[in-house]
Amino acid sequence: MTDIMRLAEGHEQVVIAAGEAAGLRCVIAIHSTALGPSLGGTRFYPYRSGNEALADALRLSKAMTYKAAAAGLDIGGGKGVIIGDPLRDKTEAVLRAYGQVVESLGGRYYAACDVGTSPSDLAVVARETRFARGTDPAYGGSGDSAISTAAGVFLGLKACAQFRFGTEDLAGLRVAIQGAGKVGRRLAGLLHAEKVHLTVADIDPDAAACVAERYAADVTTPGEIHRADADIYSPNAMGGALDERIIGELRAAVVAGAANNQLAEPGAGDRLREKGILYAPDFVISAGGLIQVVDELHPGGPSEERAAAQVETIPKRLAGIFEMSERDGVNTDKAARRLAEDRIRAVSRIHASWTRPVP
Ligand code: NAI
Repeated sequence: MTDIMRLAEGHEQVVIAAGEAAGLRCVIAIHSTALGPSLGGTRFYPYRSGNEALADALRLSKAMTYKAAAAGLDIGGGKGVIIGDPLRDKTEAVLRAYGQVVESLGGRYYAACDVGTSPSDLAVVARETRFARGTDPAYGGSGDSAISTAAGVFLGLKACAQFRFGTEDLAGLRVAIQGAGKVGRRLAGLLHAEKVHLTVADIDPDAAACVAERYAADVTTPGEIHRADADIYSPNAMGGALDERIIGELRAAVVAGAANNQLAEPGAGDRLREKGILYAPDFVISAGGLIQVVDELHPGGPSEERAAAQVETIPKRLAGIFEMSERDGVNTDKAARRLAEDRIRAVSRIHASWTRPVP
């Protein structure tokens, strides 16, 4: 069995589409619809190969299942990835061709924004499908999900500080932020307002410089940011930020950020625990954006207040996970996965009994 087939295990459906007319090359992976239709962002990224894109879609869609389940949402996990450089290849035709693939799934997958796509891109996707969410408010959506994601991460940092430092007051703490994109720069703004000392790094020097100028942050290089002299390390760039070497070099007592799939290796959760580092499971702390977009599916339309109230439950969920991790002697990632899996099992059993066809 190839690695890809191993990664695909447990997924319900994987669609690979190459629309020659538009130049679209995409993968949509549906990991689970046990709790409801799958929903996940659309990543537009210059993958080096189709296999790399497929592997990313498979990993990310599975993570979405856990994220939705842990957040208490009636949604399953799915993810779309489009191969290409967003600056060069993101044309109207590609986005609309992608919308047609989404539409062909008949509502089993709802597309939202992710790295490389924006609410206005999703409005273009929505011209071809009823199943695009996270568009601009002018198109009936709730707008940029990074606002709610950053708000959830900010509240999550307070829960981490409470657990590790005995107070949720962040003033005077030092936070190192990897990635000054949509989430990272908003998180920097929220932390700056709380008198947190910031260090930031981004592969795009302009993005890092912008945060430095606005929020009096120090700038370091992407290769050094995890080694910064900080209380909290916050990964907000791409996945796989935490491998054996990086964890060995970390100086922070807490790792908490929005980046999906931060643990690069199966043993990474245990390694963090052994080192005494409190890790906020990425799929729990970064659920704010998903909560915001899923709220658009409410029969009455989106409500900022309702979504914000749900984002405010993130610290309580994290505190419960930290306690469970200590009580059961397992790492925090494993504790969070248990919670999500228990909920999927319990709720899908109810679905099975009430929707079974009458013989
Ligand atoms: P973004 O694309 O706006 O920002 C990512 C930033 O990271 C960019 O500025 C990029 O230049 C930088 N970057 C890439 N590789 C880097 C590296 N090795 N070192 C330092 N910087 C690097 O993406 P966004 O929306 O801010 O998302 C950030 C992370 O959070 C992603 O992993 C995303 O999947 C995750 N996430 C985002 C949500 C959202 O609502 N936007 C929701 C949940 C998770």
